[in-house]
Amino acid sequence: MTTIRIGDEAPDFTAETTEGKISFHEWLGNGWGVLFSHPRDFTPVCTTELGRVAKLKPEFDKRNTKVVALSVDAIKDHKTWASDIEETQGTAPNFPLIADDDKKVADLYDMIHPNASDTQTVRSVFIVGPDKKIKLNLTYPASTGRNFDEILRVIDSLQLTAKHKVATPSDWKQGEDVIITAAVSNEEAEERFPGFKTVKPYLRYTPQPTG
Ligand code: BEZ
Repeated sequence: MTTIRIGDEAPDFTAETTEGKISFHEWLGNGWGVLFSHPRDFTPVCTTELGRVAKLKPEFDKRNTKVVALSVDAIKDHKTWASDIEETQGTAPNFPLIADDDKKVADLYDMIHPNASDTQTVRSVFIVGPDKKIKLNLTYPASTGRNFDEILRVIDSLQLTAKHKVATPSDWKQGEDVIITAAVSNEEAEERFPGFKTVKPYLRYTPQPTG
């Protein structure tokens, strides 16, 4: 078990999934990835989460982001449960579910928190960049279903800030003003972001750059 932090390389693994065996780094290719765990198959909150992610799949695709889920259950359970998800949520999982019944990946990613449960994974979310580095690590308790619009929002921010010398303010959404990073002098800011607004010397806003 290792603690995985932002900036670390995402541990590579091979695993059986509902879409065949995957080798994680190879499967990610040159794009972005989201790896998320849920405690157990055939549980209510997880059912809603997987249905929601299936509905949002086109949004992940638009962002060149592959999604893969994990729980410590077997392929045959994942497959049976998928039809329940389709029946109750309107969409079956359209992304791979890792069958981690030997807890190999869960251990690698520190997804079992023994003071919460010895046997079930917590609700972890990892966003992995094209450089295979961890860009975000979130942990939710079993009783709280995640907000996957927030995950998309973070991906938007990560993809924007990887390209431009900006950061995104609290609650930022696509199309809203962004913050010019401290590494950019006022002279450089004038060139890159003409007409930028200075609220404080350390707080400078500009419209979201395009391209
Ligand atoms: C659920 O997904 O509903 C759930 C899973 C494990 C513990 C509690 C709730």
